[in-house]
Amino acid sequence: MLTIGVDIGGTKVAAGVVDDNGEIVEHTLRPTAADRPDVVAETVADVVRELSRDRTIEAVGVGAAGFVDETRSVVRFAPNLAWREEPLQKKISGLVGLPVVVENDANAMAWGETRFGAGRGQSHVVCLTLGTGIGGGIVIDGALYRGRWGMGAELGHMQVLPGGRQCGCGNIGCWEQYASGQALVKEARELAEAHPEQAATLLGLAGGKIEGEEVTEAARQGDEASLAAFRNLADWLGQGMADLAAVLDPGCFIVGGGVSRAADLFIDRARQAFAERLTGRGHRPLAEIRLAELGASAGVVGAADLARQR
Ligand code: BGC
Ligand code: NA
Ligand code: ZN
Repeated sequence: MLTIGVDIGGTKVAAGVVDDNGEIVEHTLRPTAADRPDVVAETVADVVRELSRDRTIEAVGVGAAGFVDETRSVVRFAPNLAWREEPLQKKISGLVGLPVVVENDANAMAWGETRFGAGRGQSHVVCLTLGTGIGGGIVIDGALYRGRWGMGAELGHMQVLPGGRQCGCGNIGCWEQYASGQALVKEARELAEAHPEQAATLLGLAGGKIEGEEVTEAARQGDEASLAAFRNLADWLGQGMADLAAVLDPGCFIVGGGVSRAADLFIDRARQAFAERLTGRGHRPLAEIRLAELGASAGVVGAADLARQR
């Protein structure tokens, strides 16, 4: 049976036809204005039409970066996008005439990685995707955990620092303000401004506006401020995982998202921070901290599989 998985990102829609083994049979990418929900529904419908031209598709799964209601139809709120009470399922299924399931993007990714990627064979998994925000997905006893209203696993919005940075969700001090890609960049910018002498390489590379690529490259070249930004990210990440383990006791964590491409710069330190801060350490097994395996296609594969199981 073939289903289509769609991952709505900040700048593009990625979609693929996926078979029962989680293999992508055909795949396509389309630029989109994620901040314009109407345009997004049209774009998703276009890619679905394109991908279903020569084959029978059973259903469509769509991953979106926000709080999705328990009927898996409406994106009610998105901290980093302008989506509010957006009936995405209705719009898309109306356009393509197929069953559509809407899922939180990080839940879809967590499911893809658990079924077919780094979490294969694991029954208790916490997946973290580090990008603009922190996406979270929780698998308990082999099933995706959604909570009572569909809005569980918003792990990026745990408050880790009272009085801390403003978050897109309206609160302050959320985890995603300290351990996401955007947080890394903010941290590096702040450090470079406060101590330019420690950020000479970074400032040279960036030539004006510091972005994630430059922080990574500068850190590789030994830039002190950039290395400090990665150390901070690693410590916040490890602390957060320790707190999550206190609640969920997963067998493994999976770390993915854009920032994980620079995992060599922070993952060992994050593992260490996790081990040093875990409650009951020394008297319990340590959950493994693995890197995601499916890369950018995890969301597509996961959404397609969730549509298959709808
Ligand atoms: C949102 C989540 C989303 C994550 C990753 C967070 O800010 O609250 O719904 O999964 O970003 O896109
Ligand atoms: Na989630
Ligand atoms: Zn928040």
